[in-house]
This record gives sequence, structure tokens and C-alpha cells, in this order.
Amino acid sequence: MLTSSLVELPDHATLVAASGGHPVVRWDHHQGGFQRAWSLGGAAGWTVQGRRGPALAAVGSAVEAGRLVTAVLELVPVPRVSIPVDAVPYVGAALGEGNDWDWFWTTDAPTPRPGEQAVRPLGPADDADLRELLRVSSPRTSAQPGDPNHVRTWFGLRDASGALVACAAKRDQAPGVWHLQAIATHPAHRGRGYGADVTAAVTRAGLVAGARAVTLGMYADNDVARRMYERLGFRVGQTFATRAVVPPR
Ligand SMILES: CC(C)(COP(=O)(O)OP(=O)(O)OC[C@H]1O[C@@H](n2cnc3c(N)ncnc32)[C@H](O)[C@@H]1OP(=O)(O)O)[C@@H](O)C(=O)NCCC(=O)NCCS
Repeated sequence: MLTSSLVELPDHATLVAASGGHPVVRWDHHQGGFQRAWSLGGAAGWTVQGRRGPALAAVGSAVEAGRLVTAVLELVPVPRVSIPVDAVPYVGAALGEGNDWDWFWTTDAPTPRPGEQAVRPLGPADDADLRELLRVSSPRTSAQPGDPNHVRTWFGLRDASGALVACAAKRDQAPGVWHLQAIATHPAHRGRGYGADVTAAVTRAGLVAGARAVTLGMYADNDVARRMYERLGFRVGQTFATRAVVPPR
């Protein structure tokens, strides 16, 4: 049987082509952050500086992505990988703890929702309300207002009493790509469409501002959020497993 071998790729454009124009490569991994990249058959992989240090990301079929990750880990020891969930059994290195998450994207504006009109950009004066909303509604989010390492624009929705009941943040992932984070609704106000209102409003604002795509990541077990994003026209571009790499003894 003919087996494909690992090929190192020189730049982001080659990586995009090798991945078959995969949306994660086009919109999540930008040229400015290019480090090293490889292809193996139809799979593509690249190193990134992740939130928790260096990481190797890969896309492609389970078998090829698994083989690619195995080969790259022998060349470049990275402490974490983000790979297609079904590739995990094909990685020939010990993988440890991690989580499963989905990367979503859209290039289409959602159907307009009347509640979007009430969504406003937030400023420093809203920071205290925002922190409290995130504390009670979204303990798993890493995004916080005023983070000097990640410039974000925050949006929110206040109810008739003026209380901040829902929020979302946007940051530039690749140039011209709005990446949404910290989408949350206060637990006492869920199920009224506020989450969909902020998500739709910020998605629309991004596309009106000329964004090529709007993206977001979601833990795979979040069925309520999944339904909300899919109703708004977001599609899963990749189901990822992020895992620690257990160093060989
Ligand atoms: C995901 C989240 C933002 C949705 O907010 P929301 O304002 O409740 O969203 P919507 O009202 O637009 O839709 C939520 C769904 O919950 C349903 N729902 C009804 N009553 C509800 C209630 N009391 N509590 C929660 N959901 C309820 C809605 O009908 C809708 O269900 P459907 O998809 O089956 O139609 C919110 O659940 C949340 O803050 N979760 C924690 C943070 C989080 O996980 N954020 C997403 C990160 S990617």
C-alpha cells in the first residue's frame, strides 16, 4: 500500500492549499502567526502559540491527521494538540487530559431578530456589571474585560430595569475575522432569546463591518448553545479534541 509521508510547508498560503481550503486554516490561523506547518496526504497540521503555550493543530481525515500528528510530535515536542476528535485513536503518542470542543463559522448574516436593536457596545463604565454577569453566567469563559493581552470589544443587552442580562465579546482572530467569545445570559433570564439576540447582533455587526467570516468555539457538551448557533446559521467547521501530550519517559 502506498502511504503518504510528511511534507513541511513554507507558508500560510501553502498550508491553506494543502488543507483543501479548510475554514479553520483560512479563518482561525492567520498568516502573521505562521510558525511551522506540514501536510500528510490530505491532512494538514501547524504549530501555534495557544492560550496555554505552544500547541499543534491538525485537520484532515482521522487516519491521516493521526499519522501527521504522530510524525510531527517526533520532530517538535509540543505539550498540547488540538486535532479532529476521531483522530485521537490514531495518534501514536500518549495523550492525557483535555476537552472536546467545536469550532463554528458563518459568512452569512442571521435572520434579523427584533431584540437585536437593544444590543449596545459596552465601555469601561460597564466593566463591573460585565464581570458580575460573567461570574454568575459563564464560569468556564476565559475572556474578561480589560485583559491587556487580548483586545476585545464587548457588547451587551440591558433589560427594562437597566440590568445587564446578556453579553458577547469579539476579538480579531485573523485579519478581517471576528471571533466571538463570552456569549452569556444571566441564569435568571435564559430562554427569552437574549443569547440569540446578542449573538445575532454581533455577527451582523461583524459582517456589516466587512468581516470575511465570524467564528466561535464551544465546548462539545453545550447543547443549548449548539442549537442557538445552528439556528443563527453557524456551521461546525471542525470538531476538536484538545489533549495534553504525555512526554515519553
Ligand atoms: C447559551 C446561552 C447564552 C443561551 O442563552 P439564552 O438567552 O437562554 O438563549 P435563547 O433564549 O436565545 O435560547 C436558549 C434555548 O434555551 C431554551 N430555554 C427555555 N427556557 C429556558 C430556561 N429557563 N433556561 C435555559 N434555557 C431555556 C430556549 O427556548 C432555547 O431552546 P431551544 O434551542 O430548544 O429553542 C446561555 O444558556 C448561557 O449563558 N449559558 C452559559 C454560558 C455558555 O455556555 N455560553 C456559550 C458559550 S459558547
